[in-house]
Amino acid sequence: MTVRILIAEDDQSQRFMLSETLSREGYEVVCATDGVEAIERVRAEDFDVALLDIRMPRLDGLDALRQIHSMRPELLVIMITAFGSQESAMRAMKEGAYDYFTKPFNLDELRLVVRRAVEKSALRRQLASLENQLRDRLSFDRLIGQSPPMQRVYELIRKVVATDVTVLITGESGTGKELVAQAIHYHSARKNKPFVSVNCAAIPETLLESELFGYERGAFTGAVGTKLGQFEIANGGTVFLDEIGDMSLALQAKLLRVLQEREIVRVGATKPIRVDIRIIAATNRDLTELVAAKKFREDLFFRLNVIPVSLPPLRERRGDIPLLVNHFISVYNPRLNKAITSIEPAALELLERYPWPGNVRELENVIQRAMILATGSTITVEDLPSVIFQRRSSHAKNGDWLTDLAGDSDTMKALLEDFSLPLQEKVERLTEELEKRIITAALRKANFHRQETADLLKISRKSLHNKMVKYNLFGLQNDVTTQYEE
Ligand SMILES: Nc1ncnc2c1ncn2[C@@H]1O[C@H](COP(=O)(O)OP(=O)(O)OP(=O)(O)O)[C@@H](O)[C@H]1O
Ligand SMILES: [Mg+2]
Repeated sequence: MTVRILIAEDDQSQRFMLSETLSREGYEVVCATDGVEAIERVRAEDFDVALLDIRMPRLDGLDALRQIHSMRPELLVIMITAFGSQESAMRAMKEGAYDYFTKPFNLDELRLVVRRAVEKSALRRQLASLENQLRDRLSFDRLIGQSPPMQRVYELIRKVVATDVTVLITGESGTGKELVAQAIHYHSARKNKPFVSVNCAAIPETLLESELFGYERGAFTGAVGTKLGQFEIANGGTVFLDEIGDMSLALQAKLLRVLQEREIVRVGATKPIRVDIRIIAATNRDLTELVAAKKFREDLFFRLNVIPVSLPPLRERRGDIPLLVNHFISVYNPRLNKAITSIEPAALELLERYPWPGNVRELENVIQRAMILATGSTITVEDLPSVIFQRRSSHAKNGDWLTDLAGDSDTMKALLEDFSLPLQEKVERLTEELEKRIITAALRKANFHRQETADLLKISRKSLHNKMVKYNLFGLQNDVTTQYEE
């Protein structure tokens, strides 16, 4: 790739010398005769490095530097100063110039300074493109997650934004359905037109029709004027129909007509009106089941389900939890006026184990709450709500400690018989399982008294605590509040 250099210098002979020297170095050189021209060039073209003379007519080098800097902060600028005007060179460096050299030129120095800048610029570009690639894989718009299921979601979004095709988003509550709908709209050609969101479950059935379709004056008692419905308001843009599974059969028929004919009829009117809208629908219910139960029209389902996007529950992409936690910390720091910088590993581990029935929304709430409770700059185990500690299964709740030791023999047995693992790993897993059971047994034997349990096991209280975090043993005792005795 050729390296492009801009030279802005008003003196013709010096301009010539600079451009000759640098062209001979293999750079592609473009010249400007003053600051204004330099800025126009930078606005229109792509350069790696710019050389600006400080004293130029129309717009001097320092002003040009400022403008270039705000326009293209990544462009490296080298200032050319007259001998004896070191002061303005210093000012330029403070304003963000990368380097400077003085007239009369020492050509070796010139070549060296430019080469350094070119190398630096190449490095910067490389970094920026790596960052972009990374960002593309870690997130899409405001959606965070780098797990394979989320990458598949991003891929689908990228495909549908170029079209007007109807999209059906499914997923449990709190998985980000609305975020996906917004991402599609704001990356499509409709982005400067309205994005209208209607929750079909939140509006009473009788009102939903006029909400969507609008009404004519006198359509019903109380209809004193004409009112535009959301379909008309969204003209040119996108309508997001949330909780579509809750729409009545009568309204479903009318929606089908909108999808087929691209026209609407206001309540109380006869004349259809053409609308240009994209429809995105979402539901956390199983529409195929509703179709089977005759609660959802099959023809409408097919019309909506052209491109299905199904969002994974958070428990199926636990690897994204650290990323999401960091994301929410940086989102809520300014809003809560906090300066949280990290989360304790033990706390993160608990978050990674919890099944998250409320998905990302629940995680967001837990982090927000923890940030409010945190006294220092780190979120600790103590800042998490008790539900996070609850055990997944409730086996051996009242069992004696010997049963604990035998434990859930199924997992042990399954591990023993699983020959897909290398021996070393298998031994480690079995050992961990055994350690967990021994600690559980000791806890019960000591009636959950921490010091006694630690004594029984001949370990310190601190290491008992760490192991309890590791094996998620806090929920063992039903009363989770006593776990903070230390
Ligand atoms: N992948 C994600 N990255 C970042 N934030 C997310 C993500 N998914 C969801 N959220 C956040 O979680 C909250 C819930 O998301 P959203 O409202 O899109 O979920 P939903 O699927 O529409 O839920 P519901 O079915 O309950 O309406 C929002 O605050 C949203 O910003
Ligand atoms: Mg929603």
